[in-house]
Amino acid sequence: MAVLPIVTVPDPLLKKVSEPVKKVDDELRTFMDDMLETMYDAPGIGLAAVQVGRLLRILVIDIAPDGEDPNPMYFINPEITWTSEELNTYNEGCLSIPEQYADIERPAECKVKFLDYDGNEQEIHADGLLATCIQHEMDHLNGVVFIDYLSKIKRSMYVRKVKKHVKEKAG
Ligand code: NI
Repeated sequence: MAVLPIVTVPDPLLKKVSEPVKKVDDELRTFMDDMLETMYDAPGIGLAAVQVGRLLRILVIDIAPDGEDPNPMYFINPEITWTSEELNTYNEGCLSIPEQYADIERPAECKVKFLDYDGNEQEIHADGLLATCIQHEMDHLNGVVFIDYLSKIKRSMYVRKVKKHVKEKAG
């Protein structure tokens, strides 16, 4: 497995729409293993393929609390088939917007259909942090990041802070 470099805002790649996966094979599984290792290393609880430079409709998520056994989840070609009317607000972060957080409102629950690690069709009903995380990561597949929900002024402030953070880390 390998830790891959993470793309950060304002990289134009993050604005692109990802393509559906055509075949779930060993090459893809190796890539998903690398995505997971990259996410754990960051550390983070969710990662979309575009964040490591590949425009494929793949997410990895693990929301297991610290100190508990890892519970990696893989979502290939995920589709949200239902969202609740009830909303929920979480203070969201993103590995492509390091060290920055904002309260974002989304449906509290959702149903998502996807292919799993072995290429089998699955559908789950998610709530709480998992529902938020799935919707946040799904946004990445459509070229959307959480700061796109904020005002233009706030958004540019976040981007400036990320640029500074990236520069400091590199220097
Ligand atoms: Ni994100």
